[in-house]
Amino acid sequence: MKILVLNEKDMRAVLTMEEAINADKDALSIYSAGESNIPLRANLDVPEHNGQSLYMYGYAAKANALGVKIVSTYPDNIDKGIPSVPATMVLLNSETGETSSFMDGTYLTRVRTGAVAGLATDYLARKDSKIFAVIGTGGQAPGQIEAVLTVRPGIELVKVYDLNTERAKDMAAQMTELFKGRFAAKFEAVTTSADAVKDADIITTITVAKDPVFDGKLVKKGAHINGVGSYTPQLSEIDEYIITHADKIYMDTPDALEESGDFIKPINKGIFSADRITGELGEVINGKIKGRESDDEITFFETTGSAVLDIVTAQRIYEKAVEQGVGQFIEL
Ligand SMILES: NC(=O)c1ccc[n+]([C@@H]2O[C@H](COP(=O)([O-])OP(=O)(O)OC[C@H]3O[C@@H](n4cnc5c(N)ncnc54)[C@H](O)[C@@H]3O)[C@@H](O)[C@H]2O)c1
Repeated sequence: MKILVLNEKDMRAVLTMEEAINADKDALSIYSAGESNIPLRANLDVPEHNGQSLYMYGYAAKANALGVKIVSTYPDNIDKGIPSVPATMVLLNSETGETSSFMDGTYLTRVRTGAVAGLATDYLARKDSKIFAVIGTGGQAPGQIEAVLTVRPGIELVKVYDLNTERAKDMAAQMTELFKGRFAAKFEAVTTSADAVKDADIITTITVAKDPVFDGKLVKKGAHINGVGSYTPQLSEIDEYIITHADKIYMDTPDALEESGDFIKPINKGIFSADRITGELGEVINGKIKGRESDDEITFFETTGSAVLDIVTAQRIYEKAVEQGVGQFIEL
């Protein structure tokens, strides 16, 4: 069996952000049409080593995509000088069941997560959006920024906010350098989340916060918000005001209702219920439900991630790598 091994550099070389957004578009379209098989993520505790290992797996026939992403959380790894959230994607050939590729699961997560918020922004944000606010400047932030600028190249200003102001300043400087000549936007670090969101047309939250990261009453009419960081019931980023007042609310998959504190906390308080959710982004893509209908609406998209995004994006990367002769084959 020949397996193609792809590291981050290889993956970056073969898949552009536009292509990643298209892969996520196909993934969510297939998912919402009921044409994929995505079982619940399997979680294994490894208490002897203070670890947890998660297996996100699925099959999407239309995209020839079959595989599992293995993501582990080992907080003590920091003391050993190795990543605390190691991740690997194992892709299979859906015709033979043989493993076709091993790839860097951390980079895959970054690119598919940025891409899905970019996709939501493309469908839901106003076309004339000029100001983009990013709250949270950790590992996921660059992919989030690239994806939104890819679908809205007319953005003039990206406001960057993090609890750690130094990190926000570094991110603004890094993004200025990285996107010089590619996007016209200026990057500015701000010191409060109010400063970040008050004039923003698009807002993305990508933090590890347990409580809302901005005042929802400051959000202007017509804004679009992506909630990306809250993927457990304990984590939440989005102000209840937005959850209860947004004109339209979308999610990547209904798992968000079981997993995201952004929904679960207001549901438990009795101030929100699932019937307030407009639907899945894939249903908008498939023309089954409406997206934005006026320039005044506030739209909100929540993503907790899904294996369907991983397997479809990974298969796309693999096909392009084979075509372009990128990566290294190993023989098992
Ligand atoms: N939706 C998905 O599919 C998906 C995929 C990957 C990661 N995530 C989640 O996204 C989150 C961010 O991931 P990351 O790898 O960038 O994390 P990270 O730890 O690298 O960075 C998180 C950043 O958030 C900042 N922060 C925390 N609280 C804040 C607050 N109240 N206001 C402003 N900034 C605040 C921190 O200072 C830090 O810079 C995590 O919760 C992660 O699990 C979601």
